[in-house]
This record gives sequence, C-alpha cells and structure tokens, in this order.
Amino acid sequence: MAKINVKDARFLRSYDRWKVDDALPALPQACFAGRSNVGKSSLLNSLVGRRSLARTSKTPGRTQLINLFEVDLACDGETRELHLVDLPGYGYANAPEAVRRGWQPMMEGYLKRNPLLRIALLLLDIRHTPNQADERFMELLDEAEVPIQLVATKTDKIGKTHRQRHLKAIAGVFGVAAGDILPYSSETGEGREELLGLLAEYSSETPPETV
Ligand code: GTP
Ligand code: MG
Repeated sequence: MAKINVKDARFLRSYDRWKVDDALPALPQACFAGRSNVGKSSLLNSLVGRRSLARTSKTPGRTQLINLFEVDLACDGETRELHLVDLPGYGYANAPEAVRRGWQPMMEGYLKRNPLLRIALLLLDIRHTPNQADERFMELLDEAEVPIQLVATKTDKIGKTHRQRHLKAIAGVFGVAAGDILPYSSETGEGREELLGLLAEYSSETPPETV
C-alpha cells in the first residue's frame, strides 16, 4: 500500500449530545472508544503527528465530550478527508455521578443515530484482560451495527516475549484471532502506518477545489 501522509488536522467541535451537524461537511467518521486512560486521545495525537491536538492526561476521565476532528490525508497524490472522533472513556469509577449517568445515553445517541460513522476503533490496554465494561461496550457496538477494529494500546509497556500471550488473552474474550488485533504504541509509533492505511480506506475523496 502507498504511504499515507497526514497533511492537516484540526479540532472542529465538541458535543454533549450528538446530532448530525448540517454546518459541517458530511464526511465519513472513525471513532476511538475504550476504557478511560487506555490511550484514545494519545493515539489520535500520534496518528496525526500533533502532540496536543486532543487533550490527554495521567488522570482517567480527561475526555468528557464527543470531540470531532477533521483530517486531510495525502494518498497516492490525492487528498482525502475524514472525521476522527475522540470519545469519552468508560469504566472510571471516580467520575462525577452526573458524568457517569450521562455517558450511556450520550454514547448510544452517537453510535445508533449516526449515518456517517464507518468504523469504531475499540482500544484495549495490551497489559490487561478486557473486563465487563469492555464487553458491554462491544455489545453496544454490535447493537449499533458499527464495524469494529480492535487495537491493543501501550505495546511499549510490555516486552516482546509477552506480547503474543497478551494479544491471545484479549482475542479470547472477544472470540477473534490474535492477528485481528492491531498492536499500537503512541510512544514509538508502532501500528501508525497500518492504522493510517485502514482509515484511508474509509476516507472520502475531496472534490477538486473550485475558485
Ligand atoms: P480518557 O480521556 O480519560 O478516556 O483517557 P484516554 O483513553 O484518552 O487516555 P490518554 O490518551 O489521555 O492517555 C492516558 C495516559 O496513558 C497518559 O498518561 C498517556 O501519556 C499514557 N499513554 C497513552 N498511550 C500510551 C502509549 O502508547 N504508551 C505509553 N507508554 N503511555 C501511553
Ligand atoms: Mg481522552
């Protein structure tokens, strides 16, 4: 596959309740989902090569809104566009009650009433076996009939010798093959090229500019 470059990336807006926004171009979307602190915002930043486009934090619960970004990709001499969506994480026990209660309807609204959503990247920390919250989220994606790509994050945190065992443990929970999970590290950039290639497949060709 041809090398994909990120030409530009910008924050568009945040939503506490999702609605298809007529003021924005109707571009295909890919969203980043997963437990709080799994590395969703960091992955988005590393993917587009911008350190602090999406806000990250050591403290779980950083992202509390649905954040929409627009990305321009250069691919075989062509510009292609896509919206990337950084979602608030789940499973953070210390989140304020109002945030926890609002999360489920916010997420269902986004996933189930969204004709632009093409793929959900479900992020799982490579060090941990997925828990009930991860399984419930997977069920929600299935209900919403959103195609899924599993991503194992923070691969720089474990040695190569343990990697396969961890990937197999994650795969076992979801009944898929270990090879179906994309290993990713926002620190080393592992997995970046592959994920850009995957996202480019969902992106839209930009019509020629009119002056
Ligand atoms: P919420 O917004 O709270 O749902 O979290 P998030 O999933 O967006 O996580 P975030 O990107 O804010 O990262 C959480 C912490 O993990 C931060 O301290 C990051 O620096 C760290 N982190 C994220 N990705 C990686 C990675 O690939 N490798 C390492 N070593 N640390 C990472
Ligand atoms: Mg975040």
